[in-house]
Amino acid sequence: MNILIIDGSPNRKKSITLMLTKTFLAGMNETAEIVNTIDLNINPCRACYACWVKTNGECVQKDDAIEILNKIKAADTIIWSIPLYSYSVPSHCKALMDRTLCFNQPEMYIGEDGRSHHYGYENGSKKTVLISSGGLPDVIGNFDGLVFQIKHMFGKNTTTICCAEAALFLQSETKSMTSKYLDAIRNAGSEYRMTGIISADTQAVLDAPMIPRDLYIKNTNIAFAQIKKRIKNIPKNRHL
Ligand SMILES: Cc1cc2nc3c(=O)[nH]c(=O)nc-3n(C[C@H](O)[C@H](O)[C@H](O)COP(=O)(O)O)c2cc1C
Repeated sequence: MNILIIDGSPNRKKSITLMLTKTFLAGMNETAEIVNTIDLNINPCRACYACWVKTNGECVQKDDAIEILNKIKAADTIIWSIPLYSYSVPSHCKALMDRTLCFNQPEMYIGEDGRSHHYGYENGSKKTVLISSGGLPDVIGNFDGLVFQIKHMFGKNTTTICCAEAALFLQSETKSMTSKYLDAIRNAGSEYRMTGIISADTQAVLDAPMIPRDLYIKNTNIAFAQIKKRIKNIPKNRHL
């Protein structure tokens, strides 16, 4: 398998999301190239539409995105490793996502899902996996925007793993809960390698909170209260 991992976290080696992604990859028993988007020079899409009307799918910009777009073309499986930012994608990684416009064509059609699409990448044989993590405790709702985006951009061969309560991975006391989640991700990788999908049982573990939401909120707030004790002169009201 030719797998490309696109790392959308600015946290580099400390990325929780990348740790989850590497666990999935280990379950697949595969190796992959990892592209760290934060360290690359990726311009925003200029919306010149040259890739649609002039160059037959080639982007005219000269920056690091070109090489990644070529790597995406060459890979058969692309794993987007994306921390959830503002219910969506961190901006430096979103810039790359926008640049995949060159894989699409201007012509439109109504898909099996009843929605309109451009012809292009999503009709191909490539597989896409989204692995995301978020600091809030909700699995339901929290990742809807991101999942919608990935599925509609990259089509029906898309598998998603969205891990809420990610702060638990930063604490050693919660290791027994997080290790169960990591086992499930490893299983998911193995199932995905063998069948191309994640079984309903494994997906159910991945979609369930590791600890009850109320407890997560309580513990996180206590942890932040401790941290904030060290800060002097906190303004009383810092809401917008
Ligand atoms: C700018 C910013 C926006 C964020 N927005 C969300 C959010 O909308 N929902 C959420 O659950 N977590 C949000 N988070 C928390 C991150 O998703 C979470 O810490 C994640 O696990 C970080 O992954 P990483 O270690 O791979 O970078 C946000 C963090 C930052 C810095």
